[in-house]
Order: sequence, then C-alpha cells, then structure tokens
Amino acid sequence: MVLNILDKAKRKEELSIEEIVELLSITDADELNALYDTAYFIKESYVGKVAYFRGLIECSNLCIKDCYYCGIRRSNKNVERFQMDEEEIFKEALWAYEAEYGSCVIQSGERQDEAYISMIERVVKRISEATKGELGITLSLGEQTEEVYKRWRDAGAHRYLLRIETTNPKLFAKIHPEDHSMEVRKECLAALRRTGYQVGTGVMMGLPGQTMEDLAKDILFLKDIDIDMVGMGPYIPHSDTPMGLEVPAYTDKQKKQALTLGLKMIAVTRIVLRDINIAAATALQALEYTGREQGLKCGANVIMPNLTVTELRPKYQLYNDKPCIDENSAMCRGCLSGRIKGIGEEVGFNERGDSQHYQNRIKD
Ligand code: 5AD
Ligand code: FES
Repeated sequence: MVLNILDKAKRKEELSIEEIVELLSITDADELNALYDTAYFIKESYVGKVAYFRGLIECSNLCIKDCYYCGIRRSNKNVERFQMDEEEIFKEALWAYEAEYGSCVIQSGERQDEAYISMIERVVKRISEATKGELGITLSLGEQTEEVYKRWRDAGAHRYLLRIETTNPKLFAKIHPEDHSMEVRKECLAALRRTGYQVGTGVMMGLPGQTMEDLAKDILFLKDIDIDMVGMGPYIPHSDTPMGLEVPAYTDKQKKQALTLGLKMIAVTRIVLRDINIAAATALQALEYTGREQGLKCGANVIMPNLTVTELRPKYQLYNDKPCIDENSAMCRGCLSGRIKGIGEEVGFNERGDSQHYQNRIKD
C-alpha cells in the first residue's frame, strides 16, 4: 500500500489525508527508504540537488512571549539576556555576503517596542544597501502588526518565517499560555502574504500528545495557505521550561524516534508541496550529528549555518544539546560545505535561492 501511495505521488496525483497519515506512520526500514527516495526524486525534479545557505543571526534572546517549550521564554530566569546592536548585526550580515551566502536570517525572541522595530528597520536598510540587494534578507521576528511588516519589507527584507507550531487548537493551547493565540498567528501569516513577502511557516513534531493525524493536518494546512517555505523541526525538551520539567531529556531511543519523525515530516511535506523551500532544521543535528544532511537526503533544500558570535551562542538555546555552540561562523561554513559535498550536492553560493513556488505563484 505504501508503495502504491508513493507511485501515486510520483505521478503527481494528490494524496488524501488517510494516505498522508499512512506515510507518516511508516516504521518498516524498506518502506522508510522508499519514502525518502521518492521525496528526494521529487526534490531533484523540482528544486535540484542544490543546498542553499542562510546565515543565521540570532540577534537577541529578549522575549515577551512565554511558550512552555522554549528555552528563552520570558519566565526563564536562568538565561542571561543579550541584545546585539545595529553594528554587530550589520557586521554578521556582511560576513555572510562576503562568505558568498545567498541570504541571511535575522532571528530573535519577540519584541514589539518601537525602539526595536526601528532598529531592525535601519539595519535591514543598511544591509540591503551595502549588498546592493544581492544578499537575501529573511526575518524571523515573531508576531507584529501589518504596518511593521510593511516597514521592514520596504526597508529591504523579502522573506519572513513565522511558525504556527501546531494547527491543532487543543495542542496549541496546551503548549502556550492563554494569551498566545493561534488565530493571531494565522492573521500574521496572512498579513505577511499581503505585504509581499515570501512566507514561511512550520511546526514542531513529536510534541507530547501529538498524533500522526495532527501532523497530516499540519501538512495540509501548509498546502492550504499556499506557503512558499517551510521550517519545521523536532521538539526537543529544554530543562528550564514547564514542558521540560515533565520530560527533561530524551533517551537515545527517544532521540532516534524524534529524528525519524522529523525526517518523515520533511519527506512527506516535499512529496505533497513539491516546489517549496524546506529547511533542514538545526534541531535535527541536536538529535544526531548528521541530522541536517539526512534532512537534505529526505527532501530539504535549505540549511542555516549559524553566524552568531561564539560568545553569544550558549545564550540562545531554545532546546537542549544545540549544536555548534563552541564553533564560529567560518568553522560552520567549512564544516557544512564539506558535509553537503559528502552527500553529492552543491552549495548554492552567491545565489539567493528564492522559493520556486514563490516564483511560480508571482508569474500567475
Ligand atoms: N524544541 C524544538 N524547537 C523549538 N523551538 C522553540 N523551542 C523549541 C524546542 N524546545 C522552535 C519553535 C520556534 C523556533 C524559533 O524554535 O518552533 O518557532
Ligand atoms: Fe557548525 Fe559543523 S555546522 S560546526
């Protein structure tokens, strides 16, 4: 049956929710390989065997939100808070440009105050001008008003990542405090789309109580809102969080399971959505050293090497065992380039690597 579903996918036929659930539920090793191979085949035919680098600048761990799973949540008193200034962010972005990365991603905890909003606006403008618009600028700065999204877009940002985390309302309510709203998230995604961004979202998989049906619905949600990019990753407990208190750390067996689920989600998302960009989340590497390459082999085509200065890396831990804490940007560049060549792919240096899906949809 699994093989029939995969054949159907290769023939570009739409899969039903039951079929998606069946693919996500695979446990047999041969069937898993068939799933990954099909996803890779579809990736190759739609987006090629090129991995695009997005240099990740984690510019602040200050956050007004209090998500029960996240290590930098507002109530975690064990985090030493930091905020990079405009000059530091600018320098890291320029480093990415000089290292021939196609894009950078500016990510931080959520802040909605005017001082922060205008700082981001200025730095985006500076990066965009200094790189003659050649370096792609992606923002991952949480929920904002449409007006703020527009200001940042006008300053030169052109992609935005905002994860929905889960589309199951009950599960969303379980992992967030009451004042965090899924409807607001959805409105933000719609506002980003209206503002002209390439829009990315995604979920965490392996959340306590999450079912394969939930995950299948998550994938159909991504399709439904016609998303351009997906960034999703396995949930990994952080010991200083409410959810981390319940299950403080994964055993080796749990790590393996979480990794497999992460890879299956990437593969099925590639099979269902085809021409979008999919990131191999850093969290995959927290579970196994080669996790990110495995993500590329299962259908992902984007990787986010860390650009954050080494001293600040330990302070930006959303989950336990985050990789590359002691490395610097140059080390991650060399390391990841070698690993990508090792799986027979090229790095798309000096290319922005815009989502094919976005390019196709603006043509229509
Ligand atoms: N495990 C995995 N991913 C996490 N994130 C936050 N905390 C965790 C965790 N414990 C993810 C969320 C958020 C992104 C920036 O990091 O999905 O959107
Ligand atoms: Fe950072 Fe390998 S990717 S050291």
